[in-house]
Amino acid sequence: MTPRPRCDQTAAWAALRRHFDGGARDFDLRQAFAAEAGRFEAFSQQAPHVFADLSKNRIDAATQELLLALARECGVERHRDAMFGGEAVNGTEQRAVLHFLLRNPADVQVQWSSGAIENIADEASEALATREAMLAYAEAVRADDAITDIVNIGIGGSDLGPQMAVLALDEFTTRAKRFHFVSNVDGHELAAVLRQVRPHSTLFLIASKTFATRETMTNAHSARRWFEAGGGQDIARHFAALTTHTAAAQAFGITTCFGFRDWVGGRYSLWSAIGLALAIAIGASGFRALLAGAHAMDEHFRTAPPARNLPLRLGLLDVWYRNFHGFTSRSIAPYHSALRRLPAYLQQLEMESNGKRVDAQGRALPYATSPVVWGEPGTNGQHAFFQMLHQGSDVVPLEFIAVKQAGHELPGHHPQLLANALAQAQAFMQGQADAGGHRHFPGNRPSTFLVLDRLEPASLGALIALYEHRVFVSGSLWGLNSFDQFGVELGKLLAKDLEPRLASGDVAGLDGSTAGLLRRLR
Ligand code: F6P
Repeated sequence: MTPRPRCDQTAAWAALRRHFDGGARDFDLRQAFAAEAGRFEAFSQQAPHVFADLSKNRIDAATQELLLALARECGVERHRDAMFGGEAVNGTEQRAVLHFLLRNPADVQVQWSSGAIENIADEASEALATREAMLAYAEAVRADDAITDIVNIGIGGSDLGPQMAVLALDEFTTRAKRFHFVSNVDGHELAAVLRQVRPHSTLFLIASKTFATRETMTNAHSARRWFEAGGGQDIARHFAALTTHTAAAQAFGITTCFGFRDWVGGRYSLWSAIGLALAIAIGASGFRALLAGAHAMDEHFRTAPPARNLPLRLGLLDVWYRNFHGFTSRSIAPYHSALRRLPAYLQQLEMESNGKRVDAQGRALPYATSPVVWGEPGTNGQHAFFQMLHQGSDVVPLEFIAVKQAGHELPGHHPQLLANALAQAQAFMQGQADAGGHRHFPGNRPSTFLVLDRLEPASLGALIALYEHRVFVSGSLWGLNSFDQFGVELGKLLAKDLEPRLASGDVAGLDGSTAGLLRRLR
């Protein structure tokens, strides 16, 4: 791909800087609504399965135009087309980034640009064949009454995606099985699950893209030892591996393997065999609906004009807030308790993708990149940290996610929940200027409000794909490679050195603090 200009060296960036210094810095949401009757309509839009109200953000038509000019000058669309065309946009690892291919309907031909990875048609049909095999297996497990517990062992993307989605889609989940997720190498986690299950009725899914992650391998070995010690014999029936490295899984003794390719990043792997726990939970048709929802969002991102392209608009807003307003974090507030692991999922998606201080060529960048992403479901967050969001000294843009229809029939709850979401977004914006001292709310605190009609497989798929593409956009504007994660390596290496020292007590060559703590922990 031809080099793209660095965002801060474009004319649009300079224009945005002038716009900001010339008054946009003091943008007031209340005045904007008073001045512009059609503001809600102008700054809201329906994308596939997701309605988004951006009107309570510190932008006006002029800001939006300048941001769209920035996207144009930075070649974001060209970059997007390169990803969808199969080019090696993960340059540091020389890999294409094709997770969207996993949700492509069987009958849709992908258009590859020149320079796409070789044998792409084979890769696409292999992905399709694996999807069908995995879904057939999921259905067989669902029909197998002897299996009552599914234990997914994996970490990072091999845990957060399936765990978040199984919780989110609880309403659609089979009641005939229990689902457990073990990620941490902390044995308390695995031990707590093993206390609840029996070898003859448990299926372990060993989920690891590399089949080399130490935490997962330690947990997998412990699970197998426990299984065998409890009289379990049939590894083929009670263990399955979800990995790109099927040879390593076979060496471990697992014969039931579902593979995927290295063009699927760990944090983008829910759509691959890594989604097996979810497929067992919601069945093949539910999983296909999830893929279809995500595919609809892919098509929206690929084809919608920039001014009505939701992932693009959200990614631009992220850059506006981070690099011009200087906001350092963004809080996610899903007003649906089933989305309680969504903030954790989005933390990996966004912070592992865009938490970088060098550009795609390895050159240090002079501007800020990924914000801290965090959050909790509403209304719980209201009674914990919302105080700081309303009256603290930092401005933290909020992201509300509300679901129109409840998935339960308890009277009164859902209107109360939705009223709270609306009220909080209103309070953040309006504040309480007439009160003084401790009761004064400054207001003018921005928020985005996303609405799903129902929390169901298709809408969840679309929501996740929306976030994936938005992270692509902000990473693209910042000139990053959003698809590597070298930042996790150093700690892994040091842990390898320290583990034997904990046994031997050898502190030679360690800094004073690590040595002192190591002695303390022995
Ligand atoms: O933390 C780094 C990372 O590579 C993540 O990107 C990934 O999701 C996680 O580890 C687990 O990796 P694997 O699926 O290979 O076990």
